[in-house]
Amino acid sequence: MSNDNNTGFTHEKIEKNVALMAVLITIAVSFGGLAQIVPLMFQAEAVKPLPGVKPYPALELAGRDVYIREGCYNCHSQMVRSLRFETERYGHYSLAGESVYDHPFQWGSKRTGPDLARVGGRYSDEWHRAHLVNPRDVVPESNMPSFPWLEKNQVDGKQLQANMRGLTKVGVPYSQAEIDAAMGDVDGKTELDAVVAYLQGLGKAAPRGG
Ligand code: HEC
Repeated sequence: MSNDNNTGFTHEKIEKNVALMAVLITIAVSFGGLAQIVPLMFQAEAVKPLPGVKPYPALELAGRDVYIREGCYNCHSQMVRSLRFETERYGHYSLAGESVYDHPFQWGSKRTGPDLARVGGRYSDEWHRAHLVNPRDVVPESNMPSFPWLEKNQVDGKQLQANMRGLTKVGVPYSQAEIDAAMGDVDGKTELDAVVAYLQGLGKAAPRGG
């Protein structure tokens, strides 16, 4: 018997059997994933809001719903990675405690446009309004789509209240008084007002600096 046969037994078997190798690779990779994910589930700071992180005010929450409906996340992430070129461009890297009230979270990884996690306060409200209605008016080379209807659509207060009630079920601490007041908070506001309010609030509770 050659030495090859003895030592090569298991490896050879696996390497010659694609299905078996696929199963074993899946198991090996999921161990790596579990090692990263499971500890997070038991870490208090991963689920505790950072100081200054509050549930979205009514108008911002309405804007967030529009953001999701319009699929902004298809081109924009909201997660600054802890890499130098990212923190220099966007600001402090994202922390789990910033998005505890985000259901669903908007981290993403698709960046046709820039990351928006730190966009709050970077531009004026007027800039955002012009940009959303027709991006080319303020960024001539932009290939972001226009969203002119946001200016015409009114925020649906009833839908917003239902959404807030739903969020309380997953742990977002909206009080009954806040839910009752939401209708008045968004009265007469357009979806454009709401999205701009949402964008201007992004990253406001983030730690300062890179
Ligand atoms: C098809 C891809 C695409 C979609 C969908 C999209 N964007 Fe953009 N967005 C871009 C690109 C590309 C840029 C960079 C050029 C520019 O500023 O217009 C950009 C830029 C931005 C900026 C400026 C960011 C900065 O730091 O300069 C904001 C704010 C923004 N988008 C918000 C939105 C919102 C809100 C939506 C949904 C209503 C949206 N985008 C949908 C591609 C997209």
